[in-house]
Parts: sequence; structure tokens; C-alpha cells
Amino acid sequence: MHILLTGGAGFIGSNFVKMVLAARPNVRITNLDVLTYSGNLENLSDVQNHPRYRFVKGDILDTATVAPLMEEADCVVHMAAESHVDRSIMDSGPFIRTNVVGTQVLLDCWRRSRGGERVSKQAGRFVYVSTDEVYGSLPLGRPELLFTEQTPLKGNSPYSASKLGGDVLASAYHHTFGMDICITRCSNNHGPYQFPEKVIPLFVTNLIENKQVPLYGDGQNVRDWLHVDDHCEAILTVLEKGRSGEAYNIGGNNEKSNLELTHAILWLMGKGPEMIKPVADRPGHDRRYAIDASKIKAELGWEPTRSAWPKALESTVRWYVDNQAWWRNVKSGAYRAYYEKQYGNRG
Ligand SMILES: NC(=O)c1ccc[n+]([C@@H]2O[C@H](COP(=O)([O-])OP(=O)(O)OC[C@H]3O[C@@H](n4cnc5c(N)ncnc54)[C@H](O)[C@@H]3O)[C@@H](O)[C@H]2O)c1
Repeated sequence: MHILLTGGAGFIGSNFVKMVLAARPNVRITNLDVLTYSGNLENLSDVQNHPRYRFVKGDILDTATVAPLMEEADCVVHMAAESHVDRSIMDSGPFIRTNVVGTQVLLDCWRRSRGGERVSKQAGRFVYVSTDEVYGSLPLGRPELLFTEQTPLKGNSPYSASKLGGDVLASAYHHTFGMDICITRCSNNHGPYQFPEKVIPLFVTNLIENKQVPLYGDGQNVRDWLHVDDHCEAILTVLEKGRSGEAYNIGGNNEKSNLELTHAILWLMGKGPEMIKPVADRPGHDRRYAIDASKIKAELGWEPTRSAWPKALESTVRWYVDNQAWWRNVKSGAYRAYYEKQYGNRG
């Protein structure tokens, strides 16, 4: 099998490439990535010469690049995206271009490469990697409420609205053209190679540099944390065994408030609460995301095995402590300008 993967130089993509190459000896991967600020070929340096792996630098919006790659592929795993909510609040343009229009370009190229109007189900699967953020937000104090695949979709930030655009386009192409499409909607990931603008690597690397950690608002916002290895395994499971046209929730059964997460990181790093710097809340900050992942467990037999807290968090924190060359390189240059703009005047 030959997978065309988009966005494979990012956090989840680079972990996915390594996991699939190791777990599936008959699978080849072509990684199409334009290398935005969050795409980093260093993430893949240990597999760059692997005989079943190929990197192509290119934009998912560019039909001339995408179309010939699709001719060679048996299936597509689409995870290229602008992925950071705070950046989408600063400028939503790149989010709409990549996450909505880019997804449409890929879907149309895939449809054409599989024969046009009505596409046979045998023509090859397209997996759209969506997010739990397309379900909007749950209130605090109602632990019985969880996102299921039936929860109405609602994009509360420009990021989630743009992912929702790609998500509904993917279902529409299944419905209209009969294309073999599955959608995955996952909770917050953590693990190696996450760009240090996201909360866990941001906090750990700040603490190593003896800088405070910026905590939004009252710190009560809740997220369900999943180790990236579990997410990658779930995407592969959906690619191989998912039912065509279905969406699958993926979660870690591991809800933590940002304050709980912050204290856990401080404790692991041997630091005290004086290292917390409260900052003004993110506009429109979703209160709680919580996933009911019973469908993927019942239908496909997937459940998280590497996300149990606090061991999973500990291994992620350890990775950033042990791999300082990686993030010090990343945390320079353009990143500094972004960080100043985001947190500089927010005291
Ligand atoms: N990180 C999470 O917690 C999480 C949770 C659920 C879903 N997701 C989804 O998983 C996917 C991957 O997320 P991530 O955290 O690895 O993001 P990331 O920002 O680390 O990686 C995104 C990758 O996409 C590439 N890319 C961006 N625009 C492109 C374009 N126009 N053409 C080609 N490549 C392009 C970037 O260069 C980068 O390598 C995204 O679709 C995201 O919405 C992420």
C-alpha cells in the first residue's frame, strides 16, 4: 500500500510516518508538506533515507503538485493544516486557504485521479484528520456531557471553523460522489516534536529556560489529553478498518483543567507556583472538550494504551528535557516575534 500523507513534517505527521514505517513493512509513504513554520524536516531525520519513505516539498493548494502524486497513491491521509488557535485569531486567512480550500483541492484531485463523477468504493480511501474542536464547547460542571459523533458541529474559533469546513466538505464528497472517505476527530495531543507554541512544550521549555509560564484566564478550561502515538495508531486503524463515510471520535479519557496540567508540569520540573504568569484569556476560549470514543472502540477495537496520566505526561516532559537541541533551534527567529506579539503585552 502507498499512502499519500499531507502535513507529515509537523508534530502528528512526523510521528505517524515513523509509526507506520515501523509497524507496516509493506507500506510506502509519500509525505507532501510545504514546510510552514511548524513543519520541520529535522523531525524526520532518522527516516529521511528510508527506502519506503519519500518527502515532496509542496503546497496542498497546488493542483500541479498534488495531481501526479495522487496518481501513484492507493490512499490519502490528509492532516496538513494551519493548526494553532491563537494564530487563527491573529489572522484567519491562511487557515481558510489551507484548511478549507486546500482540503477541497485534495478532494477534487483525488476524485479525478479515481475516475471522476461517481467513484467506486474500491478506488482508495481518503482519511480527513479533523479535531474535537469542531463540536464547539461543553460547559464546566456537567461531567456527563461528552462529544459524540452525533453532536452538532460548531466552530467557535477561526481555526475550528476552518477545520469544520474541511470536515463537512469531506462528508459532502462521500455523499455526492460516493468517495471512500473517513473522518477522525481527536482530542488534544502531546508527545515528541510538538511545536513549542502549544501548551505542554511551551511550558516545559520555558521552565527549562527559567521563564514563567503564561496561563490563560482562570485556568479552568478543560481538555482531554491523548498521547500522539495513540492518535497515530487510531488514524491507521481508521484507514485500514473504518467504515466508509463514518466519522470516529478519538480521545484519551483523560480530562484535565489547564491549571491541573500546569501544576503537574511544574511538579515534574521541580518548580513552584511562582512560575505561573496569569495572562488575559484567549478571546472566545472554549471551556471544555470531552470525547466519547466508544464508537471506535466498539467498531474497530481501538482504545488508548499510552495516554494514562501522569506517566504519559512524564514521558513527554522528559522528551523535551532530553532533546533541547531540537526545540532550541525551533524556538529562535520567527518564533520569537510570534511569542512577543502573543504574550508580550498581555500581563
Ligand atoms: N495537535 C493536536 O492536538 C491535534 C488534535 C486533533 C487534531 N489535530 C489535527 O491534526 C493535524 C496535524 O496537527 P499537528 O499538531 O501535527 O499540526 P502541525 O502544525 O504540527 O503540522 C501541520 C503540518 O502541515 C503542514 N502544512 C501546513 N499548510 C500546508 C499546505 N498548505 N500544504 C502542505 N503542507 C502544509 C505544515 O508545514 C506542518 O508540517 C491537523 O490537521 C490538526 O487540525 C491536531
